[in-house]
Amino acid sequence: MKIVMATNNQNKLREAQEIFSPLGIEILSQKDAGVSVNPEENGTTFAENALIKARAVYALVKLPVIADDSGLCVDALNGAPGVYSARYAPEGQLCETLLKNMQHVPEEQRTARFVTDVAFIDQNGKETVLEGFCPGMIGFEKRGVNGFGYDPVFLYGSQTFAELESEQKNAVSHRGAAFRKLYDYLKKYYQEGI
Ligand code: IMP
Repeated sequence: MKIVMATNNQNKLREAQEIFSPLGIEILSQKDAGVSVNPEENGTTFAENALIKARAVYALVKLPVIADDSGLCVDALNGAPGVYSARYAPEGQLCETLLKNMQHVPEEQRTARFVTDVAFIDQNGKETVLEGFCPGMIGFEKRGVNGFGYDPVFLYGSQTFAELESEQKNAVSHRGAAFRKLYDYLKKYYQEGI
């Protein structure tokens, strides 16, 4: 069974391959499937953006497709940066910009969550969207060297995501949670024919 993942991000691809291989599912990148698409992610929700990416690939490959869209939602900023997480600041300035915009927010009000929506389109075009999230707090300074994006300022308990090893992060992260929900869904879908 082959599923095309609407990404060329090698880290996401590897994570998905590790999760889904026990089901006998082979995850192909869009490049492996011979397509190259980069649709405008102009949805207002993570679910819409995940579907935009999945539909663009499905239209060309007509194989099952998965696509994910993620971001950071900060309560004190009314859910920002949300779907604008990647575009919140110039490359390399995401954490600094977030810390500056929250400099007057006291510790107890710095609650946040990372969110991932994963869209699956089956062989016949049936669409399913599943969501995973990880609650945490925004710190007052960057800490740690692992990961990417907002990891150095996202506190999961007493450590930032950038202080965790990738396996520790995957076990609790929004993306891990969404992929595990999709694993359960696909297990039923392929083994029990729901
Ligand atoms: P994407 O939809 O997975 O490409 O995520 C969009 C943006 O959200 C990324 O460019 C990051 O800035 C941020 N983001 C998503 N997931 C994470 C994460 O696990 N750690 C840190 N930042 C993340």
